[in-house]
Amino acid sequence: MTNNEPANYFDFRKTLSKNKLAGMLRMMTGYRMTYLAANATLAISATAKTLTYLLLRNFADTVVGNTVPFAGSFSRTLILIALGFVGLAMVEGGFAYLSSRMASYSAENITRRLRNFLFDQIQRLSFAYHSKTPTGDLIERVTSDVDSVRAFFNDQAIGVGRIILLFIINFIAIWILSWKLALVSIVAVPVIVLVSMWFFKKVTKAYEAYQEQEAKLTTTLQENLTGVRVVKAFARQNYEIDKFETDNWGKFLRGRTLVKMQSFFWPLSDLLCGFQMLAGFIYAGILAVHGEITIGTYPAYVGLVVWLIWPMRNLGRIIVNTSTGLVSYDRLMEIVKQEREPLTTGTAKVNGPVRGDIIFEKVSFQYEDGGSEVLKEVSFHIHPGQVVALLGSTGSGKTTLVNLLPRFHEYTDGHILLDGQELKEYPREFLRKQIGIVEQEPFLFSRSIRENITYGVGHNVSQEEIEKAARAAAIHEVILSFPEGYNTLVGEKGVTLSGGQKQRVAVARTLLKDPRILILDDSTSSVDTETESEIRNALNGLMGNRTTFIIAHRIQSVMKADLILVMDKGCVIQMGRHEELVEQEGMYRQIYDIQTRIDEELEEEIASA
Ligand code: GTP
Ligand code: MG
Repeated sequence: MTNNEPANYFDFRKTLSKNKLAGMLRMMTGYRMTYLAANATLAISATAKTLTYLLLRNFADTVVGNTVPFAGSFSRTLILIALGFVGLAMVEGGFAYLSSRMASYSAENITRRLRNFLFDQIQRLSFAYHSKTPTGDLIERVTSDVDSVRAFFNDQAIGVGRIILLFIINFIAIWILSWKLALVSIVAVPVIVLVSMWFFKKVTKAYEAYQEQEAKLTTTLQENLTGVRVVKAFARQNYEIDKFETDNWGKFLRGRTLVKMQSFFWPLSDLLCGFQMLAGFIYAGILAVHGEITIGTYPAYVGLVVWLIWPMRNLGRIIVNTSTGLVSYDRLMEIVKQEREPLTTGTAKVNGPVRGDIIFEKVSFQYEDGGSEVLKEVSFHIHPGQVVALLGSTGSGKTTLVNLLPRFHEYTDGHILLDGQELKEYPREFLRKQIGIVEQEPFLFSRSIRENITYGVGHNVSQEEIEKAARAAAIHEVILSFPEGYNTLVGEKGVTLSGGQKQRVAVARTLLKDPRILILDDSTSSVDTETESEIRNALNGLMGNRTTFIIAHRIQSVMKADLILVMDKGCVIQMGRHEELVEQEGMYRQIYDIQTRIDEELEEEIASA
């Protein structure tokens, strides 16, 4: 997570707007001229088409009326007209091609940078945002919604221009033929526009519902793929299949609503357009009979009026697609407008690495999404290089406590002092560089083991350093046993690591980062006692002068700590060194007794066997 922005970085937060169309317009920044050019070439193409019909009038008048309007001779006129037709067709086709090239070039570029921005943005959002947002929903937005925005820029962004242009040019052309005819040709246009607007509103709502349902479906799919083991282990395939089918049926129903609306709207707008054209044809006939327009004007008018009304008819299609683009714009802006987690701001004076002196003063914490207090007035002090162990029942708040240190969440009350300064004043990025955390459920990427281990430090590390970290995590030998050693891929295409192996790779990854403060959240829970003591011995050497937090469930793992915190329901109920705590009545003694008794019994059994 850096603030280095790619070369053509465009901040889409600038496109946030109450008016979606205005927002879309802002998205076009940098490509507006291309769109203008696309519309201009389109205008040329449309004008060529219109001129074709005007030429048709001359052709018809020449043939039918046997008049020779220009070029002297009859045959020469016809040849010229024919050449005119060919030339106009070439201009029309060529410029239409240019126009759509420019539009799709721009559309692809706008959406490429949109996708980049969204990815960047998603990386920068807080833990709280990610824990409340379903992954499938995000995937849906970054793929399907971006695609309908692309469709908008590819088609509708010049489609609207096309409609307006065709309308104006053809209207002017008909006006040239006869102004009366021009007026009659557009009597129904206001009605068509009104119907289209009404339809737009309806379709927008229906499409919103459709996209929501699609996101739900993606979430179900994504969760099932991730949790396929659980599904199989509980033999719940049928239940999940039913659930998927229900969601899919929901999508079908919403899709059907959309289609129903369209199948009502298309014929309706066709009918209106048909009436409009018919009215024009009849009126043009009357004018021709009365000699107010020439015979050749009639076929020209028929061609022109089709191109006047055709765009009107297409308005509906454009409107449907525009509304889907606008709905998607809104759904994307929900991601864009999220507050980013500030990474680099902070007033703390930092020069060089922290020492690792940590004081908790009556720290209380409640998760952002509500619920009761998870930590209650926790106080303790550890000195640089000391080891503090957290022990306690499940759900007592151990993970929550250590997650406050890299500022994944903000404590709600009290003070945490790091080297004497309030933790909240340190920039998050700085803290996260100083703190190495081995998560309770470590996540490895589907990349090579080497890349996973060097994840926190980049590529410029020597093989020796990597191996040193791997040895300390007691994973080096295991890695060598794979055919491709450190280059072995983890995950779907490579080896499937066991829980303990994953944990140890994660330990190596954190050690390589060489943090001043080391947090091991239950990092040895998935390894056997022997491996654990191996890791512990190696760590003892490495912990050296780092402040270390160990969360563990075994007394042996915490016995040597400088300070042991026994936690229960968010409170520290006992605190001290092992020797002190075993002397006291309380939870620590109970755990100690139970665990030593189990160990003794085991030893006896082994001995008797
Ligand atoms: P183990 O790892 O099982 O030993 O428990 P722990 O001591 O690490 O507990 P943890 O700190 O994970 O959780 C403490 C309490 O916070 C539990 O009651 C959880 O339900 C709650 N909790 C954990 N994460 C979240 C969260 O993201 N949101 C909310 N609202 N509650 C959470
Ligand atoms: Mg935990």
